Amino acid sequence: MELKEKIRKTFLERFNEPGTVYASAGRINLIGEHTDYNGGFVFPGAIDKVIMAEIRPNGMEKVRVFSIDINEYVEFGLKEEDAPNEQWARYIFGVCREIQKRGGVVKGFDAVFAGNVPLGAGLSSSAALESCFAFALNDLFNGNTIDKFELAKIGQSTEHNYCGVMCGIMDQFASVFGKKDNLMRLDCRSMEYEYFPFKSDSHKLVLVDSRVKHELKDSPYNKRRESCERVAKKLGVETLRDATAEMLNTVKGEITAEDYMRAKFVIEEKERVLDVCDALVKGDYETVGKKMYETHDGLSKDYEVSCEELDFLNDVAKELGVTGSRIMGGGFGGCTINLVKNDLHDDFIKVVTDRFNEKYGHKPEIYDVVISDGARKIED
Ligand code: GLA
Repeated sequence: MELKEKIRKTFLERFNEPGTVYASAGRINLIGEHTDYNGGFVFPGAIDKVIMAEIRPNGMEKVRVFSIDINEYVEFGLKEEDAPNEQWARYIFGVCREIQKRGGVVKGFDAVFAGNVPLGAGLSSSAALESCFAFALNDLFNGNTIDKFELAKIGQSTEHNYCGVMCGIMDQFASVFGKKDNLMRLDCRSMEYEYFPFKSDSHKLVLVDSRVKHELKDSPYNKRRESCERVAKKLGVETLRDATAEMLNTVKGEITAEDYMRAKFVIEEKERVLDVCDALVKGDYETVGKKMYETHDGLSKDYEVSCEELDFLNDVAKELGVTGSRIMGGGFGGCTINLVKNDLHDDFIKVVTDRFNEKYGHKPEIYDVVISDGARKIED
C-alpha cells in the first residue's frame, strides 16, 4: 500500500475522522560536510524519500500520536514537564515546545505518521520528521506566519534541547527549503542561499547504504563540534569560517594534534564547496568528483568520522572509475554518495553490491537520488 493510503487508513481507524496530510523530505548533500556548525557552506538537496503525517486538532490539551513504522502509540501534554521518554516522540514534542517558546501556538492534536527515509543512513530522517511537524503545526495553528528559516531552526533547536545532538542547520534547512531538481548552496553564516539546477544528462547520483547504523546522540559528533569551537576561540574568530590554513598553522604548537586535524579539514572543506559550485556551473563533473574524493579522505583521515565499511565502498568506487564518491552526512556509518557516469551505473551497482556482500556478509542498499520538494501539504 502507498504511504499516504496506509496513513489515511490508520488515522481513520484510530481517530474516526480524517485530518490533513503533510510531508517533509530526507536530504542528500553533494559536498560541504561538518561545515554548517562552523559557519561555512553546504550544498544539500531534498530527496524523494519522506516522512508523512496526517494530523487533526483534537480540542484537548494533549497530543496523541501513533508511529506506524515503530508500531507505538504515545500521548503527551504540551508543557515542558510533559516530555515523553520515547526518542521518536521527543522529536515531535520538541517541535511543539520550540514553536511555543517562540510565541507560536500549539494546541492538542492527533497524528499518525510513517516514512520511507531509511533510519540511521545519514539521510536525515529525524530532520524530515521535525520539518514535517513544524510545517504542519505552522499551517494548522499559526496561519503560516512562522517563516521557513524559523521552521528549520525549530527543528535544529529540537535536536539541541530534546535529543542531545548539537547539529548544524543543514538537514532541517534542506528538508524545509528543498526544491525539485535543485540543489541549494547555503552560506551558514549569512544564511543566504541559492538554488542550483541539478539535472545531468551524463551522470547520476547514487547512494550506497552500508546499513551500518550510527546514533549521533552521545556520539563523537558533539566532540567534533567542540574541537572546532576550541580552535576558533584560540584563533580569536567567531567560527572556523573566518580561519585560514595560515592562521591555523600559527597556533599549531598550542592546540592538540587532534584539534588541528579537525580544523584543517573544516578549513579545506569550506573551499571545496565553492570549487564544486563553480565546476557544476561549467558542467565540469570531473572536478566535482575529484573534490568529493578529497572530502572523503579528509573525513576519513583528519575528521575521523568514517568507518571500515565506508572506506571500503569508497575504494571500490575509485577502483571502478566512478567520477566521485564520499561518505555523506554526519558519519559513523550510513551512506556514500557517488557521482556515476550513466554508462557505468549498472555495472557499479552490481560490482559494489557483490563485493560488499562478499566482505561484510550483507548487501548494501542502493538508492538512485531523485532531487525533490521539501516540506509541503499533501492533501486536505
Ligand atoms: C549531521 C548534522 C548536520 C551536519 C552533518 C555533517 O547530518 O545534523 O547539521 O553537521 O551531520 O555535515
